[in-house]
Amino acid sequence: MNALDGKKILDFTHVQSGPTCTQLLAWLGADVIKVERPGVGDATRKQLVDVPGADSLYFTMLNHNKRSITVNTKSETGKEVLTRLVEKCDVLVENFAPGALDRMGFGWERIQEINPRMVMASVKGFGPGKYEDCKVYENVAQCAGGSASTTGFPDDVPMVTGAQIGDSGTGLLLALGIVAALLQREKTGRGQRVLAPMQDGVINLCRVKLRDQQRLAAGPLEEYSQFGKGIPFGKATPRAANDSGGGQPGRILKCKGWETDPDAYTYFITQAAVWPKICDLIGKPEWKTDPEYATPPARLPRLDEIFDEIQNWTMTKTKFEVMEECNPLDIPVGPILSMKEIAEDRGLRETGTIVEVDHPERGRYLSVGCPVKLSDCHVEVKRSPLLGEHTAEILSEFLGFSELDLDRIYDSGAVGDRPARAR
Ligand code: COA
Repeated sequence: MNALDGKKILDFTHVQSGPTCTQLLAWLGADVIKVERPGVGDATRKQLVDVPGADSLYFTMLNHNKRSITVNTKSETGKEVLTRLVEKCDVLVENFAPGALDRMGFGWERIQEINPRMVMASVKGFGPGKYEDCKVYENVAQCAGGSASTTGFPDDVPMVTGAQIGDSGTGLLLALGIVAALLQREKTGRGQRVLAPMQDGVINLCRVKLRDQQRLAAGPLEEYSQFGKGIPFGKATPRAANDSGGGQPGRILKCKGWETDPDAYTYFITQAAVWPKICDLIGKPEWKTDPEYATPPARLPRLDEIFDEIQNWTMTKTKFEVMEECNPLDIPVGPILSMKEIAEDRGLRETGTIVEVDHPERGRYLSVGCPVKLSDCHVEVKRSPLLGEHTAEILSEFLGFSELDLDRIYDSGAVGDRPARAR
């Protein structure tokens, strides 16, 4: 028994944000039915292809544990199939460009007519307002959500981050909204609309930068490196390079091997509580009592010098040795792990955070597992479906169409070719 067993999800999502949401629901036990265009499918199936003829890693890593049905939902027969899916499912999830579902004839009003208990959940680029009609991809959301203007080095261009905070981040939020709406439905008997705009999701993740925007009114941001360097602050939260976002100063520092290994670095946090231990560790015991270094406010204008001194120590160790020496002393540090190191980490395989999956077209590949662990809900990551792999079983077993109906539906061309075993 898993947390979402019995919940049926009509998955009308594509690319990354929506599929992230429905994959999470599938991992937690929901029956997720992905609706795709016959012969075409989710565009990511054939994007960034590494094994000719096989579904791409982009697609397979976002669509585990789902079933796939192909339906041309713009044809009359396709609409009939979609209507039946809306009747049978608990949730419809979509992340089409604004207005696409209305143009198809399945806007919120219509969905409620067909199934008043249905939760209809959407990812859009922006919430209601001047940009609501825009198509949006990840980096647009990072830029419009305040992430890019606050990421990177202060004297360089805005930067996007490698973490897909706009797409995957918003997909995770949408999943929470859906589960909450399902819980509310238990009391009200009604479905509701759930909207997760990508800009909102990124702004939420950037809250400490909005915090700093307001603190600027009270004076310079003293924990930012630019304060110690004497560089004046402007009117908006600046880019803070690798400064820590909190009140405990931190930096990325070189470790042994940095000259040849682009990831031989550690993150080092000079948490006030462990300052004496840091001083002893790096061979600067006199800093424990020297008034110029002993207190956090005294250290703020000297962070460059302090981190240079700490780096002289970290450069004599590998990033893992830094961790081994600092952890017993409760000094917070973190190795800069490369994707290669993450892919090869045995511990992450054991916790199911990184999983190996078998696929009939591409063989074994690595993927991410469920990032949230429930003690009474066992997540088994299963391969993504081939295009239309479950069309026949969904039409007959899930939707209950009769043989006569099936002949008519297949003959209309609305669901792709009839597989041999379903004839
Ligand atoms: N049968 C028939 N038509 C289908 C279909 C099906 N099974 N599935 C989709 N379509 C149609 C849609 O109805 C739409 O048609 P229309 O434009 O004539 O109304 C069309 O396919 C494509 O939809 P669209 O969403 O516009 O795709 P796109 O590739 O042009 O745009 C995005 C992609 C991501 C930019 C856009 O979907 C978007 O902005 N989504 C919201 C924000 C978002 O999630 N962005 C992040 C994605 S990771």
